[in-house]
Amino acid sequence: MRKIYASFMGVILMLMTNFTMAQDHKTQVLILIHSDHGGTYELAKEVAKGVERSGKSRAVVKLVKKSSNPKLSGLAVATVEELPNYDGIAFGSPVYFGNISTAMSEFLAKTVDLWSKHALQGMPATVFMSAGSGAGRELAMQSFWNTLAVHGMILAPMGIQGNDKIDQSIPQGNTVLGTTSLASLTNTERPSKSERYLAELQGISFAKVAAGLVGIRDNRERSKNDKITDLDDKQSVNQRLEEKHIVLPKIPQPAGNYHPYVRSGNLVFINQVALKDGKIFKPGKLGVEVSEQEVKKATEITMLNVLSVLNDAVDGDLNRVKRCVQLTGIFNTEDHYSKHADLMNVASNLVVTIFDDNGKHARATFGAASLPLNSSVEIQAVFEID
Ligand SMILES: Cc1cc2nc3c(=O)[nH]c(=O)nc-3n(C[C@H](O)[C@H](O)[C@H](O)COP(=O)(O)O)c2cc1C
Repeated sequence: MRKIYASFMGVILMLMTNFTMAQDHKTQVLILIHSDHGGTYELAKEVAKGVERSGKSRAVVKLVKKSSNPKLSGLAVATVEELPNYDGIAFGSPVYFGNISTAMSEFLAKTVDLWSKHALQGMPATVFMSAGSGAGRELAMQSFWNTLAVHGMILAPMGIQGNDKIDQSIPQGNTVLGTTSLASLTNTERPSKSERYLAELQGISFAKVAAGLVGIRDNRERSKNDKITDLDDKQSVNQRLEEKHIVLPKIPQPAGNYHPYVRSGNLVFINQVALKDGKIFKPGKLGVEVSEQEVKKATEITMLNVLSVLNDAVDGDLNRVKRCVQLTGIFNTEDHYSKHADLMNVASNLVVTIFDDNGKHARATFGAASLPLNSSVEIQAVFEID
């Protein structure tokens, strides 16, 4: 009897734990934008506020492309691969000739792989846009919908919401498909208070749709794709750099008629020596002018230079690095030296620390009679990016 009672209590405890875990799960909403002048970003912040208002959803705003606008420079750039990780995506873009912007269109054009895997099928989506005069803005919203519908996303329109509360004495960007802002109309600051209010309402209703559809999509789609991990489990490469206190140096300027990197297809080719603050760190030949310890430090500096160039090649989003393909370490050594592998492990370990399994690479090392600028080391690297 005691045994039966104990098992019964065990089952109850398990059910209660699962229930609490389900309650703890916060819906993850990506607010994916392109913005030139910041108007779309202003709307995105309101949508994010609305999404987070319920307390059950978390919103993250990311760009489709790195921006030189200082207002946007702190925002991360999203990768195509991370899109299926979310429970819903709110897309925001400027209106370009009654259509979505070029950068948004280019980003969506890269989603063919997701489309063929049905990776976004059944995921809720909503759209908002910043316009100038507003000419063609509903056409633009609809053109957004065309692409998202092909992905099988569940499109959440705005409908007629909040119109009774907005200031009707001036033109406002309300549409039934989603919020817009009429940025070139000068009679008030844009987005106007009413447009901000509508964007927040859109965020609130979108969070409800996203939360309501979580279970359905989890069963049908997530289980199919083993590459999809829960957002909480996936640590971004840039976060890992921060955690390990790894600071990338400024990109060394080319010392001749060449580029810091060349991209050919999905491969990026980079070559660096041990430049630190414009000078070679501890120049010279191992065993003659410099010690093994000093060459190891020079190898670390060289690899950080490589990573800094790589970071530039992926527009500051190292999550776009698919893998490190090959590293070649060349060391300035005497003829009889044979412990090149020990020296190169410094570079290899650094790459694996940063990229985990994707950092594991093929490798070659060798000694040379001399190296450019009398550096003790040169590293050649090949990475695959998206
Ligand atoms: C190439 C181009 C085309 C545009 N076409 C339109 C348009 O058809 N209708 C409109 O209302 N505004 C149009 N605009 C204005 C932008 O939509 C407007 O400036 C918007 O607020 C920019 O958003 P942002 O501040 O997020 O960059 C266009 C702007 C550009 C650069």
